[in-house]
Amino acid sequence: MNRREFMSWVSVGCMASFLPVAIAACSPNEQAQTESSNPPPPPPPTDSSESEGFEAVGTVTELDENGAILNKEFPGGSVLVIRNPEDAAIVNAVNPTCTHEGCTVEWNVGESKYICPCHDAEYSADGTVLQGPATESLATYTVKIEGDSVLVKSL
Ligand code: FES
Repeated sequence: MNRREFMSWVSVGCMASFLPVAIAACSPNEQAQTESSNPPPPPPPTDSSESEGFEAVGTVTELDENGAILNKEFPGGSVLVIRNPEDAAIVNAVNPTCTHEGCTVEWNVGESKYICPCHDAEYSADGTVLQGPATESLATYTVKIEGDSVLVKSL
């Protein structure tokens, strides 16, 4: 094989190896149509707590300054978060809607219980009925603290 024949074979080899790349590069519309027909993938969760269904309802600073956090815009209903009076390391979260006739209960720090302003029903820190006329406990949420954030899991 002389030099000219060798160079001819090398040229054919190069053309053959670049042909699939050249074909793919010349058909961008087909790829764009495929991408536009499929919905974009959901964005990755930015935080593991969000992916577990937790949402921030306030800060620990706010909880400790005010004694409670009331968030009326929580998905599925209002949420009221307090520190447990028997163990401040524990936080409790309830739906503050009174089970009697639907008034919003308030956390009374001095008496360590929720009191309904409408007909004086009383509930313990975990939402259990202490005094009627309510007969059912307050709905509760799973709650946790991460850093300065108070996170509640929606029902
Ligand atoms: Fe709460 Fe009646 S609505 S005690």
